[in-house]
Amino acid sequence: MTRTLFVHCSPHGVAAHGCQLARELLGHTRWFGKTNTVIERDLTAVPLPPIDSQYASALTGNTAVDDARFVLSERLIGELEASDRLIIALPIHNFTVPAAFKLWVDYVVRIHRSFAATANGKVGLLANRPTAIFVSSGGFHGGEREYSHQPDFLSPYVRQVLATIGIEDIAFHYLQGLTYGEAAVSKALNSVRERLTTVGPWAVSDDTHQLP
Ligand SMILES: Cc1cc2nc3c(=O)[nH]c(=O)nc-3n(C[C@H](O)[C@H](O)[C@H](O)COP(=O)(O)O)c2cc1C
Repeated sequence: MTRTLFVHCSPHGVAAHGCQLARELLGHTRWFGKTNTVIERDLTAVPLPPIDSQYASALTGNTAVDDARFVLSERLIGELEASDRLIIALPIHNFTVPAAFKLWVDYVVRIHRSFAATANGKVGLLANRPTAIFVSSGGFHGGEREYSHQPDFLSPYVRQVLATIGIEDIAFHYLQGLTYGEAAVSKALNSVRERLTTVGPWAVSDDTHQLP
């Protein structure tokens, strides 16, 4: 039995290309076994509140784990602890993660709880697990295309924050060129579908950008 946490945050909600592809993947017993329990964290339908001074001072003080100011953070970290697979669908917004996802990061990356500060740097306290990240973008980044004139700050950032809490086995799947019309969308979707069929969702990738 697998337990998968599915986090998504496109303003297009469940109609987003990345979200739809992730849902398609969740339907494949090949990758999840016969029983897969899914915890869905929809950051668009249920936005997280901005970090307030209560949480900020609890986070930076010597505060007990069961302090009331950590309730939301505990719930979100609890969803990570209750799962052994992680799927995230993320659109690129201005070269990086959407603000809605950044808030999730600020609640789950918590000192003394999901990571420890040591003399050698931050050490993750959560279990590593196979993680698939669907990154959708209107344009292109990386790769050989001559119009790939934008940087991708999202991939290294997401890799760093997940590694900070202990999640290191990350596979990136890139859906690029989604504002270039229907044919480009189909091409991007089919390219990722093909990749999922051949290498699978969990094949740990570097940040090389697979292009259709
Ligand atoms: C606020 C905002 C900023 C965006 N910034 C970028 C960007 O920097 N690069 C890019 O290629 N696309 C950008 N886009 C386009 C989205 O990435 C694209 O529409 C989205 O990924 C579509 O995927 P989805 O259907 O999975 O949401 C932006 C869109 C919005 C709404």
